Amino acid sequence: MTTNSNSGDVLDHSLAAAGVNRINWAGREMPVLEQIRARFKKETPFKGLKIAACLHVTSETANLMIALRDGGAEIALCASNPLSTQDEVAAALVSEYGIKTFAIKGEDTETYYNHITTVLETKPHMTMDDGADLVAMLHGERNDLMENVIGGMEETTTGVIRLKSLAEEGKLKYPVIAVNDADTKHFFDNRYGTGQSTLDGITRATNILWAGKTVVIIGYGWCGRGVAMRARGMGANTVVCEVNHIRALEAAMDGHQVMKMEDAAKLGDIFITVTGGMKAVDSKHVEVMKDGAVLANSGHFNVEIDIEGIENLSDSRTEVRPYVDQYTMSDGRRINLLGEGRLINLAAAEGHPSAVMDMSFADQALSAEFMANEYQNLDNQVYVVPRDIDNEVGRLKLLSMGIEIDELSDEQEKYLNSWNTGT
Ligand code: ADE
Repeated sequence: MTTNSNSGDVLDHSLAAAGVNRINWAGREMPVLEQIRARFKKETPFKGLKIAACLHVTSETANLMIALRDGGAEIALCASNPLSTQDEVAAALVSEYGIKTFAIKGEDTETYYNHITTVLETKPHMTMDDGADLVAMLHGERNDLMENVIGGMEETTTGVIRLKSLAEEGKLKYPVIAVNDADTKHFFDNRYGTGQSTLDGITRATNILWAGKTVVIIGYGWCGRGVAMRARGMGANTVVCEVNHIRALEAAMDGHQVMKMEDAAKLGDIFITVTGGMKAVDSKHVEVMKDGAVLANSGHFNVEIDIEGIENLSDSRTEVRPYVDQYTMSDGRRINLLGEGRLINLAAAEGHPSAVMDMSFADQALSAEFMANEYQNLDNQVYVVPRDIDNEVGRLKLLSMGIEIDELSDEQEKYLNSWNTGT
């Protein structure tokens, strides 16, 4: 039963109570965001501002939306991927927290884009994207909805790449903060978050044993590093494929086997794409894969695995378990594609754990506040998260974990900042 109104389009409002429990459970692991929320409630930095958010609609995102709402923002939220919505959470946001939410797990492409448009029709002052779909729509088909926008925030690597390309062409129409590029975001969320949640998604979808498997990780950015590290931790033999020489070298020295994909394709039991690019696994790779090979993607878009190529090679497709489509090739080999090639960690599991999203969303919240205060001093460019915000999020996270660290003495500080003291 879906309900569509000005206040939202969600699967089923009766799921709201379960959604509240999920949101509260996640909140326990998000102490930094909670501190920010409490301050926002007192200071209302977003009073009078409308924020359009296009994020994975999870219990962690709900905690971010509540912090922004408590800071005075009027919010409209839609999904940044058709398969990542937690329907209970979406229902709770509308019914229990008064946050307009347009997101249904499994929505088709048309509904997905309708939801994006609906959110933009609120004529927001700020955009908060995960993958730059709001920005793309505002700079394309719906530039009539741009009039109030003062600035935006972007959560993920792929979105930042799209924004930088827009800015390089001189077409970006408002300043955007690349939240992804904060140290307290990508060192942790991309590495430990994607590392753990990708294995979680594949495990939930397939119930495979990782120990002894050959796992091919395609892409060795922060996400790939995390996935490879965690796969090895589970006892897998890890193979990395990478197009960048330095990253490939790093993978080799981190102890993974490094080779061309055409060679890895013959060896792998499980293939995981985390490149941010397209066709990292294509039909010529699939042609030489072993019977039973499993293909999963944890990059932002569903173009990293050439699904059309697989369809062309295969005689039939059967859904053998939820999130597992088995393609039978004309030579009888079976190739298993997980989660329709969409982000497997969010499709088949719950995305990154709350404790890591605590930092990413603290960065989001503080960047949004910075944008609200400083937009008049910014150009239509992509900005890094201010260093003091990044440092503060790191400091608060450490504090919340009960970890104390040393401070430099004046003498040590002076030494580190001088050029004239040698041996
Ligand atoms: N991206 C990855 N994991 C996520 C989560 N749990 N919530 C929101 N966005 C995410």
